[in-house]
Amino acid sequence: MTNTASSSQPAAASGTFAIGGDLLVARLGFGAMRLPTGTFTGPARDPEDGIAVLRRAVELGVNHIDTASFYRRGAVVANELVRRALVPYPDDLVIATKVGPMPGPDGTPTLQATPGQLRGLVEDNLRELGVDHLDLVYLRVGGRTAPGGEPVTERFAALAKLRADGLIRHLGVSNVDAAQLAEARAIAPVAAVQNAFHVQATADAGLLAECTRSGTAFVPFFPLGGGLDPIDTSRLEQTAARYGATVQQVALAALLAASPVMLPIPGTGNLAHLEENIGAASLRLTPEDVDGLAG
Ligand SMILES: NC(=O)c1ccc[n+]([C@@H]2O[C@H](COP(=O)([O-])OP(=O)(O)OC[C@H]3O[C@@H](n4cnc5c(N)ncnc54)[C@H](OP(=O)(O)O)[C@@H]3O)[C@@H](O)[C@H]2O)c1
Repeated sequence: MTNTASSSQPAAASGTFAIGGDLLVARLGFGAMRLPTGTFTGPARDPEDGIAVLRRAVELGVNHIDTASFYRRGAVVANELVRRALVPYPDDLVIATKVGPMPGPDGTPTLQATPGQLRGLVEDNLRELGVDHLDLVYLRVGGRTAPGGEPVTERFAALAKLRADGLIRHLGVSNVDAAQLAEARAIAPVAAVQNAFHVQATADAGLLAECTRSGTAFVPFFPLGGGLDPIDTSRLEQTAARYGATVQQVALAALLAASPVMLPIPGTGNLAHLEENIGAASLRLTPEDVDGLAG
């Protein structure tokens, strides 16, 4: 593997990007969804493991953590783990969160918040994270469905009001199509787009190109295929062997190679997986390498 990483902060080898023009982060970040539970239906994980993973991520140079109040299983709540692990927060840490889903009758976040309910959800995040403002808040649109089809104007305008009130520094949108992004942009600046995307799930390549053109962060969720659309790792094995890397590192390095605005947030509750994933920051793939990985 090409090793250009600084030894103590290897995430920095992924390069930097300024979200919204002023929140400077290492491009390889961390997703907190897997801390409370490893699977969508599984048991809660040990909160002390989550705390250890968060602290190690920051030690390794991660300074972009993606979370949400609805990342919880039982009493284990991702936002609270972030606060317990990392307060006092490092000055350069950017915590992104998302609002939109509301808990249904069984507690799972299947309903959509109304514009009027968004302030309460933002306040939940402020309280759980122990901060007086949120760095980046996405409006998370839709359920487990593909992007598109529902208006975002009223909800994004409600978040823009909270931003104007000083509760939020930058706004993003998640699980959107190009029309919904344009709708949001007509109301307030959109600093980041967070959609499902990985080396073989590139349906949003057009949206990524628009983000690259406009300098908008593109944050791929399920970057390791952790969702419904797994990665065919057999297509990554040769490249991994050539660089002495793992297939997960190749999957992340391919994302980093795709665009300077790409900010992967691989999720894990496992320290060894975290270290492996951060190792991808120094893996440089050629365009020919990346072309051979697609499904
Ligand atoms: N905006 C949205 O709607 C949305 C939706 C989903 C997720 N997200 C965000 O995106 C982040 C990333 O998505 P994700 O965490 O669901 O999926 P992911 O990063 O694609 O994959 C995570 C899964 O892969 C495993 N894993 C991680 N590193 C590994 C490694 N090196 N080797 C083998 N297995 C590994 C994890 O298990 P272990 O924990 O056991 O390592 C977990 O099962 C989330 O954490 C969350 O912050 C956003």
